[in-house]
Amino acid sequence: MALALFPLVSFLFLLPTSSVSQTVGNITVGASLFAVENSSWISPSRDFAFGFHQLEHNKDLFLLAIWYNNILEKTIVWYANGDKPAPRGSKLQLTSDQGLVLNTPQGEQLWNTQSINGVVDSGVMDDSGNFMLLGSDSILWESFKNPADTILPSQSLDKGVFLSSRHSETNFTSGKFRMVLQSDGNLVLTTINLPSDHLNEHYYDFNTAGNSDQVVFNESGYLFVLRENNTKSILTSVVTGSAKDFYYRVTLDFDGLLILYSYPKASNGDASWTTVWSQPDNICIASKVTTSSGFCGFNSICSINSGGRPICECPKGYTLLDPTDQYGSCKPNFTQTCEKEPAAVEDLYDFQVLFNVDWPEADYALLEPFTEGQCRESCLQDCMCAVAIFRSGDKCWKKKLPLSNGRFDTGLDGAKALLKVSKGDVHVPPLSPDFPNQEMKKKDQDTLILVLSLLLGSSGFVNFILVAAICLGFYFIYQKKRKSTLPQNGGVVESNLRCFSYKDLVCLLPFEGGLSSMYTEVNEF
Ligand SMILES: *[C@@H]1O[C@H](CO)[C@@H](O)[C@H](O)[C@H]1NC(C)=O
Ligand SMILES: *[C@@H]1O[C@H](CO)[C@@H](O)[C@H](O)[C@H]1NC(C)=O
Ligand SMILES: *[C@@H]1O[C@H](CO)[C@@H](O)[C@H](O)[C@H]1NC(C)=O
Ligand SMILES: *[C@@H]1O[C@H](CO)[C@@H](O)[C@H](O)[C@H]1NC(C)=O
Ligand SMILES: *[C@@H]1O[C@H](CO)[C@@H](O)[C@H](O)[C@H]1NC(C)=O
Ligand SMILES: *[C@@H]1O[C@H](CO)[C@@H](O)[C@H](O)[C@H]1NC(C)=O
Repeated sequence: MALALFPLVSFLFLLPTSSVSQTVGNITVGASLFAVENSSWISPSRDFAFGFHQLEHNKDLFLLAIWYNNILEKTIVWYANGDKPAPRGSKLQLTSDQGLVLNTPQGEQLWNTQSINGVVDSGVMDDSGNFMLLGSDSILWESFKNPADTILPSQSLDKGVFLSSRHSETNFTSGKFRMVLQSDGNLVLTTINLPSDHLNEHYYDFNTAGNSDQVVFNESGYLFVLRENNTKSILTSVVTGSAKDFYYRVTLDFDGLLILYSYPKASNGDASWTTVWSQPDNICIASKVTTSSGFCGFNSICSINSGGRPICECPKGYTLLDPTDQYGSCKPNFTQTCEKEPAAVEDLYDFQVLFNVDWPEADYALLEPFTEGQCRESCLQDCMCAVAIFRSGDKCWKKKLPLSNGRFDTGLDGAKALLKVSKGDVHVPPLSPDFPNQEMKKKDQDTLILVLSLLLGSSGFVNFILVAAICLGFYFIYQKKRKSTLPQNGGVVESNLRCFSYKDLVCLLPFEGGLSSMYTEVNEF
């Protein structure tokens, strides 16, 4: 026992001397880094560091990573062991035959630079953010050819090399989004079905099909696909500055957006990253897959928040399966059974009405021509029916669980989702003949808002025209909706509909109810 403990004890004694290690320049074979605070190798200009990043949620776990060394906001551009964080005291060593090798204190290998073909002479953290292993006359391995979720200026990705998102801002486990240069030369953004590698239908297509070789992010901050005939298919529309003055990076963010960020070098490191370009504009509408849940988890609804980022929310009566994963699936908090129910279905279930919400790909029946009343009744009496989408005035789509591809979309031809919920869980306002007017006055005073966000990625005059057109459109749609839905649903505060443009195109509607549940409150119209 004492013998077995000895190596561990002596190892712990050694730790303090090597805990703060910052080497600049060439790394020689045999050099090592330990997974402790502030342990890194710095590039000559000090712009980039390669080393161990302490995870936020567990201070005893470390990520082998590359980050900007001169800015305060820790921004990681490459990482090796997202799926296998290194326990405190793990050791990274530069070896001549295997390149970099990362071992736990117990000697278990967590990661290494695979397929080294030759003898490693030295390692270099260079000023472009590339960590390279050099042989006598060639580069044997480089982080630029083994990217994580980010591509840096002067980096290029060959066919077959992809960017893979992280699970969340601070959780570096593999996420489900990928940027892939397909064999047909088309650059796409797509999701995979974790934990497998199955690629779903892409949610964004850069339309670069042809004989394309590489995705290039050049020194000036332009992202393009380079074709065999040496022509470029430029993806990023604008770059507003010189790479001498700005750090640029293109990151496939954890929420699936591919974003070109810039950061002014001439700051004290306390500036922040600015979005220069981003795709897709509305990932909720862009993504529709047949063999997965879509952007959000099952039964969830995707929408774009006022900051232009996609969010996922469970409808009322549904709760997150994993309370810590807001992008995950939602479960109904009641079970609908096809056995004999304890009471009449009318007493057990009601409908939550959600405007402009749909779950494509979960249909099992289309009934038409049907009135909304018939649609409700049919879903109510049908023990298979989880939600009915009443659309286009006479179409009733019945859908089964799990619901997939949930999204908020104003382009659904007045779609109304009738979501079956257990009656105990919904507050149904009593109907009275004078209900609409009285309720409307009260609602007028409430200042909570519904954000109807349409991301159109345009600007200036075009944007203004679109704002005007869409405001007008909404106005009429809601006018119409009010007339057709008032009997069950109360009143629309259409006079308060306001549209404006800041980055994207956004309409605001003051509503009763919670801001966080923008759709679920729509039924309070
Ligand atoms: C670092 O390695 C490169 C390539 O082997 C070499 O040209 C350079 O002189 C080395 N620099 C230092 C400071 O040793
Ligand atoms: C690591 O660096 C930070 C900032 O330079 C410093 O505040 C902290 O004390 C250092 N930690 C250790 C263990 O050296
Ligand atoms: C990171 O996310 C993965 C996937 O959901 C999860 O299994 C893991 O526990 C998370 N890690 C931490 C430390 O939260
Ligand atoms: C280069 O190739 C692309 C497609 O592969 C084609 O559209 C384009 O016309 C070609 N350009 C030249 C100059 O050959
Ligand atoms: C990067 O690409 C853009 C667009 O083709 C070009 O204008 C610029 O000169 C390129 N920069 C470098 C350093 O090659
Ligand atoms: C179901 O969810 C609603 C809120 O969404 C909650 O008020 C209700 O208590 C839940 N019911 C059960 C049985 O968990």
